Amino acid sequence: MGRELEQVASVELSNIAVSETHGEDSPYFAGWKAYDANPYDELTNASGVIQMGLAENQVSFDLLEEYLEQHPEASTWGKGAPGFRENALFQDYHGIKSFRKAMANFMEQIRGGRAKFDPDRIVLTAGATAANELLTFILANPGDALLVPTPYYPGFDRDLRWRTGVKIVPIHCHSSNNFQITPQALEAAYKEAEAMNTKVRGVLITNPSNPLGATIQRSVLEEILDFVTRKNIHLVSDEIYSGSVFSSSEFISVAEILQERQYKNAERVHIVYSLSKDLGLPGFRVGTIYSYNDKVVTTARRMSSFTLISSQTQHLLATMLSDKKFTENYIKTNRERLKKRYQMIIEGLRSAGIECLKGNAGLFCWMNLSPLLVKSTREGELELWNAIVHEVKLNISPGSSCHCSEPGWFRVCYANMSERTLEVALERIRNFMGQMHRTN
Ligand SMILES: Cc1ncc(COP(=O)(O)O)c(C=O)c1O
Repeated sequence: MGRELEQVASVELSNIAVSETHGEDSPYFAGWKAYDANPYDELTNASGVIQMGLAENQVSFDLLEEYLEQHPEASTWGKGAPGFRENALFQDYHGIKSFRKAMANFMEQIRGGRAKFDPDRIVLTAGATAANELLTFILANPGDALLVPTPYYPGFDRDLRWRTGVKIVPIHCHSSNNFQITPQALEAAYKEAEAMNTKVRGVLITNPSNPLGATIQRSVLEEILDFVTRKNIHLVSDEIYSGSVFSSSEFISVAEILQERQYKNAERVHIVYSLSKDLGLPGFRVGTIYSYNDKVVTTARRMSSFTLISSQTQHLLATMLSDKKFTENYIKTNRERLKKRYQMIIEGLRSAGIECLKGNAGLFCWMNLSPLLVKSTREGELELWNAIVHEVKLNISPGSSCHCSEPGWFRVCYANMSERTLEVALERIRNFMGQMHRTN
């Protein structure tokens, strides 16, 4: 904080500023602090904490770096490159047209060309974080609710609730059907909100799911679409991991279903996307809202003034994503590498006696440690999590931070480290499991 100042407690801040709905005290973030205090490094801190709580994709950086080396015009000023002045001057909230077009094409490419995206419906935002918050501002009033299937990405507590004053009502999903959403669970969540006198404005799904690392089946998507239509509410589909599915045919976007239904009832559907995961660029802050509703597009565009993407970043990515040869190779290679990592971790965990939910996407697996719980409660889960963070020195995310209703599940990230570090992590888990068996 720089210079120490005497803090006077009596000066009040706004309700939003002091609200706890940010969720920063959840174990999800506490684990990050444990990592920050003692980060693992193969050479300088081999007994440090390995960060497995961060859904970051570092497996294809070499491809991005190679492209930038071969195409200096994308990221430098001068001959053949966008002019300095063009970038430095005022940018309105429509964003750069060539970039919106490149984003729309990239989103089509990821879906194997099975869905079409109109660049004029692309609203640019600083990441999916901003896109989700902005949509919540547009779709719901303070006190209204969004129904969100559990387990869900812990950041939603902040993104959907904190500044908007909107509530999240969980749609409880269970391991008995691989945590898929059912019509009964949707109806139960809706009733729960009604019982609290809370108006439901929409359902927000994440497909492929974080933290499950799995895609949503077509029949389930159809049921969800029918449900929101029947209730006359919105559907937000966060498809941030759509390019990180191990095989393109295993992912069905809500966009495909709308296309098949000739866009009937499409005005209630909004897709969120970002380059943070598929391209591994969370630092670039590039996200988008794709809405089939004209009013939502117009309002989101106006609101995006608060959260624009720098012109320089847009120019760089417009050049990169317009290069079909590069994007085709990148998408294919990145998928193969993620799949290889997934298999490596799943097999490593299995050899230690641990099972995971069958996954087909994402940067993490959903690990079942419920057989190890002394007490099958949230407290029991957090006790085990504490031991894993502080004794095994692995920062993983407890299912309770994702509002999972069954204790004992954990999200383990595997794409934010080298294969060598992943091997060290697996070795630590094997030793821990060995110890657990010896003491029981
Ligand atoms: C499901 C989901 N939505 C949104 C985000 C936020 O992404 P961004 O970095 O684009 O803001 C994340 C990041 O982990 C996520 O997993």
